[in-house]
Amino acid sequence: MTTLTTADLVLAGGRVVDGTGGPERVADVAVADGRIVAVDALADVSAARVVDAAGLVVCPGFVDVHTHSDLTLLSSPAAHSAVRQGVTTQVIGNCGLGTVPVPPDTDAAALRAAVGFLDRDPAVEWRWRSLLEYLETLRAAQPAVNVMTLVGHVPLRAATVGFARRAATAAERDRMCGLLADGLAAGAAGLSTGMVYPPASYADEAELVALGRVVAEHDGVFAWHVRDYADGLLDSVAQALRVGEQAGCRTQISHLVVVGRRNWGAARAALDLVGAACERGLDVGVDVYPYLAGSTSLFQLMPGWAQEGGAGALLRRLGDPAVRERIRDELVGHPVGWDEIRVSRLPADDPQVVGATVADLAAARGQSGADVVMDLLLAYDAAVDMVAGGRCEDDLREVLAHPLTVVGSDGFALDPHGPTGSGMPHPRSYGTFPRLLADYTGEGGLPLPAAVAKCTGQAARRLGLTERGVVAPGYAADLVVFDPAVLRDRATFDAPQNYPDGVRLVVVNGEVVVEDDHTGARPGAVLIHRDRQEIGEQGCRVPR
Ligand code: ZN
Ligand code: CU
Repeated sequence: MTTLTTADLVLAGGRVVDGTGGPERVADVAVADGRIVAVDALADVSAARVVDAAGLVVCPGFVDVHTHSDLTLLSSPAAHSAVRQGVTTQVIGNCGLGTVPVPPDTDAAALRAAVGFLDRDPAVEWRWRSLLEYLETLRAAQPAVNVMTLVGHVPLRAATVGFARRAATAAERDRMCGLLADGLAAGAAGLSTGMVYPPASYADEAELVALGRVVAEHDGVFAWHVRDYADGLLDSVAQALRVGEQAGCRTQISHLVVVGRRNWGAARAALDLVGAACERGLDVGVDVYPYLAGSTSLFQLMPGWAQEGGAGALLRRLGDPAVRERIRDELVGHPVGWDEIRVSRLPADDPQVVGATVADLAAARGQSGADVVMDLLLAYDAAVDMVAGGRCEDDLREVLAHPLTVVGSDGFALDPHGPTGSGMPHPRSYGTFPRLLADYTGEGGLPLPAAVAKCTGQAARRLGLTERGVVAPGYAADLVVFDPAVLRDRATFDAPQNYPDGVRLVVVNGEVVVEDDHTGARPGAVLIHRDRQEIGEQGCRVPR
């Protein structure tokens, strides 16, 4: 029993699942000045507000380690799709995609097209050149969630090598490393690469190791969208691990999935590679989202050679019949069928196209799937997104169950009624965390405390966040109260913009952001990766 005199908020008598993975216990949680001040049975506390949490789960706010909200948070800082799930921190700058740095000699328009997947609102002006300036812009937008950023490899390479398909020279590499070091010094949590996104995809291993060494010097994390999640999955995961071990940097395999029916079952082998690297001493982790489809730019279906030079060059090539023939040939035997690929967003909403599969469109137009894709890219200046399936439940469960895996949505902070509300986005932006906790826990799934840890404390540790993700005195008051009997995700592939049921209360830095509905509060902080010493021991251990 603790006697506490005053608090701003007390969540009374809830089932506290504290984010460490330890067993739940019934306790009161007291908050003052944005921090958790007590987790105990409290007597005689005079609180500005007491919320009865009896029968409800009280846990840390969800730390979404993998998002693409770099630009959407500027348009939709209320972050409806995130906070309504209970997300209180988002990590941006993933998959190599990012908006900084943009030094004066960068082709900014080409960079903006290359990271078009982030870009859902043409009204957002890029007025920043450095990470520091971007973070200032983000702070001024007053997001509802806390935000931490990685530096993306795509802008680094665009700024130094441009969009050529070649290895960097030693001088270019040094410049890239310098720009990365600037970003890390300004507070980025690490680096991300996307080995499928030009021009990052043109990097050789010497470049990746050099960048990894800079990450290691700053005790950051190096997150990888690996080269190939389909036929080349194991080689691609092995590359990330090899670079991590050579550079000595904390390594994260982003959204580990197995794409293509012929590859199903490979999750085990990929996880074994990760586990073995961990046992050799690499600080490595994995993240995943609980859906059997992904989402990215449609131009990702185009071969790397066709994308050389950026989006403009790709579109010019697609006008050449010989090039089209070659692409058609290369797409035969693609691991994901045309009936598993849907158009999810266009610059202008066309209900005939958005939500249709490539197979539907091919049948309606009397064309091959490859031609449908190429024509869509031409018609909409390559600014087309897709949702693509080809994954299986067994692999997903295998990845999720692994002790080194945490949860990341790979989604966006969106507002269904704002400029980021167009199209048929992947439902993960609205449903990841409730879906995980409702559908992947209990019998046949994870124990609730372990699942919560993967969404909170364990996730925070991957990013070096020491003050969040745990319900304990001294931690930031980022909290979620949900009703486990009601918790359910309602966002589907056909109706993606539905909020989940059962999330009762969401608190960010001590302020209530969701109380059944969004309260309008936007108390999020831009988180700077600092106090690196405090991060201390977080080497991974694989329980056997
Ligand atoms: Zn990715
Ligand atoms: Cu991503």
